[in-house]
Amino acid sequence: MDRHAPYLREMGLTRWRFGARNTDTVSIHPDKEEICQDPGADGNLAKLASLAQEAERCERCELHRTRDKVVFGSGTPAVRWLFVGEAPGAEEDKQGLPFVGRAGALLGAMLTSIGLSRKDVYIANVLKCRPPNNRDPFGQEVRECSPFLHKQIDLVQPAVIVAMGRFAAQALLNSDQSLGQLRGSAHTFGEISVPLVVTYHPAYLLRSPAAKSKTWEDLLLAQSLLV
Ligand code: URA
Repeated sequence: MDRHAPYLREMGLTRWRFGARNTDTVSIHPDKEEICQDPGADGNLAKLASLAQEAERCERCELHRTRDKVVFGSGTPAVRWLFVGEAPGAEEDKQGLPFVGRAGALLGAMLTSIGLSRKDVYIANVLKCRPPNNRDPFGQEVRECSPFLHKQIDLVQPAVIVAMGRFAAQALLNSDQSLGQLRGSAHTFGEISVPLVVTYHPAYLLRSPAAKSKTWEDLLLAQSLLV
């Protein structure tokens, strides 16, 4: 049996629905040799570590009063994919790592469905601290916290960004359009025009599994934007 089959099933997908396109998607990994030769990667790793320390001390908004741990992000600058979520949940707040709860397990399946694993991607959130009771982020919190995410993007220099959910999409694209309006086409982020694709948040997919196949199509779109 194909080793990806269990993960595609977890995503609610079957190969026959997508035919040959799927075969194309499972072989793409970051080019490790290219990464090793990147002289900037080590310097950016140190800068990311120092930015993470700055976030640990951050008291820009009220969320610092209720957080347990700051959830800065996970991964290294030597990757091509950046996945951005909304904000840490209870488990992430406890562990200090993004997407380690149920939504994180589904994100893992999403990655595997396109031949990636967590070590191939950088994962971050718009907010670095958990909103109490997982309420929606306030606009002011997004504005105060966004500079951290923007600096992370500068340092990771991803080849493609996947914005998961409405908050990540609107924050990164500086837009008030709905997720439905933003998904399904290629966008760009920032002055250096990093390709950006909008998709559903894994927590939404847990509630609405029928959207998993659309998410996979979004991931294929993101993959097609990699040069
Ligand atoms: N949801 C998010 O948006 N981010 C996490 O890290 C976990 C759940």
